[in-house]
Amino acid sequence: MLKVDNLKKYFPVERGVFRRVIDYVRAVDGISFEIKKGEVFALVGESGCGKTTTAKLIVGLFEPTDGKIFFHGKDISLLKRKELARKIQIIFQDPFASLNPRLTIGTIVGEAVKHRLEATDEKVKTKKIKKETRELLNRVGLPVNILNEYPHQFSGGQRQRIGIARALAMQPELIVADEPVSSLDISVQAQILNLLLDLRDSLDLSYLLIAHDLNVVRFLADRVAVMYQGKIVERGSIRNVYEDPRHSYTKKLLEAIPTLETETIK
Ligand SMILES: Nc1ncnc2c1ncn2[C@@H]1O[C@H](COP(=O)(O)OP(=O)(O)OP(=O)(O)O)[C@@H](O)[C@H]1O
Ligand SMILES: [Mg+2]
Repeated sequence: MLKVDNLKKYFPVERGVFRRVIDYVRAVDGISFEIKKGEVFALVGESGCGKTTTAKLIVGLFEPTDGKIFFHGKDISLLKRKELARKIQIIFQDPFASLNPRLTIGTIVGEAVKHRLEATDEKVKTKKIKKETRELLNRVGLPVNILNEYPHQFSGGQRQRIGIARALAMQPELIVADEPVSSLDISVQAQILNLLLDLRDSLDLSYLLIAHDLNVVRFLADRVAVMYQGKIVERGSIRNVYEDPRHSYTKKLLEAIPTLETETIK
């Protein structure tokens, strides 16, 4: 469904009044992978290894320096922004920053519904938007009487549900989830991860899951790729990579997983 082919993103490092380019940050440095329909594919790796940059390239927020991304065989750089948004949606790490504090929940989710209906040339009726917005809130486990409330009135987990509802409003096939639970309490994390799994099954979704927490990856993903300094250094089924890591960096990552015992000692 998604094919990433030798993708690169270099950010220029500039210096002086003439902003001369003295070097490049090779944030993503020639990565390739595929995501099949219905699959949860995870990218893991330490901070700064290029995960978010990869996510932004896939949803069209960055232009690649080199390489291509195909969705169902079609080069996404040839798609219009709206077309791409209907296929691939992103949910962010920080549900506090990604929801406009001045808009009500009804507007945040409703606007996304409206965008989609406009894109499909349907006659947009307020009634229809409202109905779909309610259905979406229901789907992500939120009460429907919150339409006139504002993001600050909700907990982190609830806000992430709102972000998920907004993404679902476009009826995407693939969701890029960039650290979807890392800002949430442990108890809430499990609820959101379960919601993501339920949605995958009921809506036939696929995910690109980005995470640094290997427990989260193990819970959700089918396959995993390990990124290190802009490159994929190891990949495979969760089982293979976890039980028989090949690369020394992967071994280090796995050793760093906190277990209950080490947590208690701390
Ligand atoms: N807009 C930008 N301009 C310049 N450099 C950038 C930009 N965005 C990211 N970078 C650099 O690219 C590298 C990769 O960043 P990226 O955000 O993709 O890492 P990450 O794996 O998502 O890290 P984290 O786990 O901390 O979120 C970093 O060195 C970062 O400083
Ligand atoms: Mg990131």
